[in-house]
Amino acid sequence: MSVERTREDFPALVARPGRTTPVYLDSACMSLVPTPVLEAMEEYYRDFPGCAGRSLHRFSEEVGRRYEAARAGFAGFLGRKDPSGVVFVRNATEAINLVGQGLSYRRGDRVLVTDREHNSNLIVWQRLAVERGIRLSTLALPDDGSFDGDALEEELARGVRLVSFFHTSNLDGHSLPIREITERAHDHGALVLFDGCQAAPHQRVDLDALGVDFYAVSAHKMLGPTGIGVLAAAPGALADLRPLLLGGETVEWSTLTHHELRPPPHRFEAGLQNYAGVIGAHAALRYLDRVGLEEIESRQRDLNARVTRGLAGQPRLQLLGPPDPRDRPSIFAFALDGIAPHDAAVFLDEGYDVMVRSGMHCVHSFYERRGLPGNVRASFYFYNDRRDAETLVRGVEELLERLPGSSVSGTSAASPASGRRRDSGRPHGAGSTRAAARSARPRRRAARGRAASAKGSG
Ligand code: ALA
Repeated sequence: MSVERTREDFPALVARPGRTTPVYLDSACMSLVPTPVLEAMEEYYRDFPGCAGRSLHRFSEEVGRRYEAARAGFAGFLGRKDPSGVVFVRNATEAINLVGQGLSYRRGDRVLVTDREHNSNLIVWQRLAVERGIRLSTLALPDDGSFDGDALEEELARGVRLVSFFHTSNLDGHSLPIREITERAHDHGALVLFDGCQAAPHQRVDLDALGVDFYAVSAHKMLGPTGIGVLAAAPGALADLRPLLLGGETVEWSTLTHHELRPPPHRFEAGLQNYAGVIGAHAALRYLDRVGLEEIESRQRDLNARVTRGLAGQPRLQLLGPPDPRDRPSIFAFALDGIAPHDAAVFLDEGYDVMVRSGMHCVHSFYERRGLPGNVRASFYFYNDRRDAETLVRGVEELLERLPGSSVSGTSAASPASGRRRDSGRPHGAGSTRAAARSARPRRRAARGRAASAKGSG
């Protein structure tokens, strides 16, 4: 399927009167949702809006069948032979919490994370250190995206219960060698958990072949709806986990004083589930399979290479992560000397309709140690095209030209009010930031290529 055909499936990318078409470069936060996924969710509410596994009527039977088909779909997509290792949760954060809070620990058990984990894979371990006596250790990663197996080996030799790493970094898009990490960890008797949020939407993951114990994903980064995630566990790995929640559907039988839990995965899915979300997420997997993960990888590599080439040699732009875009295919993250990340993001949005994410990307610990205010992050997916890449390059070029001290700046209007300052990394309540960015207003409502101008909008 061509990129142009692909784009027609995404309502957010279709030109409409009165609205310009965004250059959406924030798929690492939330991917766009194609029509077949929207239709699958609507079909549930319209045609068989029942609850699974409880009633015996046809709606209930149908939703039960679709729900279990989705479980099998995720197992197949992630390379698990046994669908009973797939647990539906709200998002990867909940999947990581399910493992973290569900394992039983001896005091002093060590959990090893990297030094650039998303808060989803950090805070839970900090709390477990306080409340249940685990020890939290950190493996420092080199900035160039390489991986030092000996450094991991040293940590493992000290005794580790669980290695819990990202698979692909949400900061810069580089991936860790999960086969090597899993093998080394298992050789030392440690379990492995990977946060696969930024990996599974972009590359083929074969969890059984890799031997990974636990893998967490969020559907909202892979064309699915918000509020659906998956923990994909190896056969038997769920047996010793304690459920986070108990209630309807988790029990085989109960009396006023006792209960017997159902086998996994059902014991982990308490209460009425988000059936529409699960069915939508399954439709998303089918869509991804139709496009093909190899095609997805190759399209975003091409775009990232264009942006990297287009902005190469800009002395005031610092790239985050490996220099070669092939080592970070889905993400181009950068800082601009002289303007705060949020201000740059607002400039790009207002001037060029380019939507990026700015700030600390929920990895405060990374920026805090370096005393940095964050980055601008452009993240690509297969529905982005070359014009998106070119528009980003033009927007950043104009911003650079307008910074104080550049050869073509020279008006005070080009001076961002806030400059480099420490911020919370959160765009919430960023009114003053937007105001600051407006002072660096772009020369034009940009050369945007795709305004819905045919109907006089724009
Ligand atoms: N939502 C997080 C991000 O945007 C994971 O990086």
